[in-house]
Amino acid sequence: MSETPLTQASAHLRHGANIGQSLTRHEGALKVTGQARYAADHHPAGMLHAVLAVSSIARGRVIALDVAAAKAHPGVVDVMTPAHKPPLAQDPDEKTHPFMFRLDVLQNDRVRYPNQPIAVVIAETLEAATEGAVLLAPRYETEPARTDFPAGAHFTPALVGVADPAEAHHGDVEAGLAGAARRLEAIYETPAQYHNPMEPHGIVAAWEGDTLFIDTPSQGLAMAQARIAGLFGIPPAAVHIRSPYIGGGFGSKGVFSGPQVLGIMAARLVGRPVKLVLRRGQMFGPVGHRAPTRQSFRLGADNAGALTAIGHHTVTASSQHDDFFEPAGGVSHTLYASPAIATTYEAVRLDTGTPLFMRAPGKAAGSIALESAIDEMAHACAMDPLAFRLKNYAEVEPMSGKPFSSKALRACYAQGAERFGWAKRPLAPRQMRDAAGMLVGWGMGTATFPALMFQAQARAVLRADGTGVVETGAQDMGQGAWTALGQIAADSLALDPDRVEFRAGSSDLPDAGIAGGSAHTATAGMAIHGAGADVIARLAELAMGDERSPLHGAGNAGVIARAGRLFRRDDESRSESYVAILARAGIPAIEGHGKSATDPAAQAAYAMHAHGAVFAEVTVDPDLGQLRVTRLVGAFAAGRIINPRMVQSQYYGGMVWGLSFALHEQAVIDPRSGRPMNANLGEYHVPVNADLPSIEAILVEEHDAHVNALGIKGVGEIGITGTAGAIANAVWHATGMRARRFPITLDKLIGPQDN
Ligand code: MOS
Repeated sequence: MSETPLTQASAHLRHGANIGQSLTRHEGALKVTGQARYAADHHPAGMLHAVLAVSSIARGRVIALDVAAAKAHPGVVDVMTPAHKPPLAQDPDEKTHPFMFRLDVLQNDRVRYPNQPIAVVIAETLEAATEGAVLLAPRYETEPARTDFPAGAHFTPALVGVADPAEAHHGDVEAGLAGAARRLEAIYETPAQYHNPMEPHGIVAAWEGDTLFIDTPSQGLAMAQARIAGLFGIPPAAVHIRSPYIGGGFGSKGVFSGPQVLGIMAARLVGRPVKLVLRRGQMFGPVGHRAPTRQSFRLGADNAGALTAIGHHTVTASSQHDDFFEPAGGVSHTLYASPAIATTYEAVRLDTGTPLFMRAPGKAAGSIALESAIDEMAHACAMDPLAFRLKNYAEVEPMSGKPFSSKALRACYAQGAERFGWAKRPLAPRQMRDAAGMLVGWGMGTATFPALMFQAQARAVLRADGTGVVETGAQDMGQGAWTALGQIAADSLALDPDRVEFRAGSSDLPDAGIAGGSAHTATAGMAIHGAGADVIARLAELAMGDERSPLHGAGNAGVIARAGRLFRRDDESRSESYVAILARAGIPAIEGHGKSATDPAAQAAYAMHAHGAVFAEVTVDPDLGQLRVTRLVGAFAAGRIINPRMVQSQYYGGMVWGLSFALHEQAVIDPRSGRPMNANLGEYHVPVNADLPSIEAILVEEHDAHVNALGIKGVGEIGITGTAGAIANAVWHATGMRARRFPITLDKLIGPQDN
């Protein structure tokens, strides 16, 4: 089957009627009326309930479980333990690629972190399983927990993130610092954070022989399918995962987790369908988190405020048994021009669940530190923070020297500043008060996130009645993927959306890659675009080759597709409907295929990132330190916008999580036990409506001819990056106090200045 070159095939999209429209959410009515069935809403006949027992220690061994007591409890069917479990075809501690994480699925009696699964109780009811789990009354041999950076030997990780080098240099930082007129050294600390999507990880698993049917939320269906197939020794095609609705993921559902595997093992053990859903507290361990960081900056600037050096050293932590190192240094490669840049890392191993990608991995933690340091340096240079950023505007990507594929950041700065009223900002801190006597501060931050794209496939079918079906195993975590991808699908066939059925959310469909890295719209979208273009190319060939068609002989001039018809490009009065072409040919349907793949030549030639600027206003009670964000204005440029309504919603969400990073989120670890003390949504704070100010997001126009044929960058995570720093800088501007430990809580604003 021949591939249609996208550059040629995409021409008909110039007339695309749907891309760029603010269509409402495809599944909105189903969700608000409670009809959308999430994973845990499924109850196959004969289903049992499984409940995890998890470790209450951080490190040691389970030496006793009262399995007899649990089994004697009415309704309990079985208890799965390291001594009683179905076999796996693959060692869950095996790691054959960087996207594979070691799992805790009862392989032995070791406890490697708090809330690690140590047994699974399976019962007729949720209540019986819950009570049975309590009756296990585990006893432990406990070893001292290692909970903080000083707790172990520091080492340089081989790689950070998925595959970034742990050391990167451009120019000579020491020379840049030595020659600087002004120098800044500052250390910023960010805490461990937990993803906490609204929907917990859950699974309903049913075996039929060696075929497996699963309802579970997943940000990457094909990868989950392959992981499960490997663990259970069955072909990937025998694993059927349904994941049409996901109640948030934030990265925690990007790789298949241990508890989800345990649900499948439990179903295998008892020979009946099993449902297993994590309780909130059980999500603080086996399903990933954002690792803490301590980031040391050394900045130099000359007399005119031009940076001469950026040194960015990150200390972070992984688990004792697996590798994920928060790639916080990456922002310093991209954002500000400097003749010398160095990013380095060291890491320590703690008795914690393995960290994972979480909401702007690397970039969120790196950005809040870099943007704070830039703000401090602007102040040291007696410059307005926006003027300082413009002075150090990166015309090419500083670390790589590559030109940007597109970069409308100047327009973001200008439009955001104008909307916010930034020009009226006094340079010195502690100058503004509101009517109630609260200190008022204004701060800003630059937003940045790479424009990524992964591999994906899609299939499109045009039927004789002129309707279409487009299929890819995409994931809608609530971000609006279903809607946006449906728009791309309709345009790819040049049909109205109500004439194209867009199918997603199942592993039985072509692999749509991962919904992560803010890359899903580009990834799945490009595959869909290619599939539709393939269909149109075949249809055009059919018509042009037929003497009876008005399109006959269109030849190299070609045809264009619009509203269910093909037109001669050189004479639009000659056209024919899809229905007529298929009817005359006597063909019931035309099928096309598409795939997305990054273009290595473009990757080598260009740096590809989305950008933005966020402006924040805060008020601080001068006596009590109470802190509120009262205004946020963000302006973002992220290439072609598929659906402005969905994109604005993504920016709002990102900005809310930026606020959350700056002021709220923090896992508090008990240094004696190593346990998270706030493993619940009462004490692990995320912003609620009452915490949120007026938020505005401006969509800044940007055209990118290189990033992919549709010009799509990601919009999911970028809103976090500028916002967290903008708020931190506004707090300084209000109070004159620089909080360098996040989150910024009121104790840090009224206590002694040791933060
Ligand atoms: Mo996201 S942390 O890239 O799912």
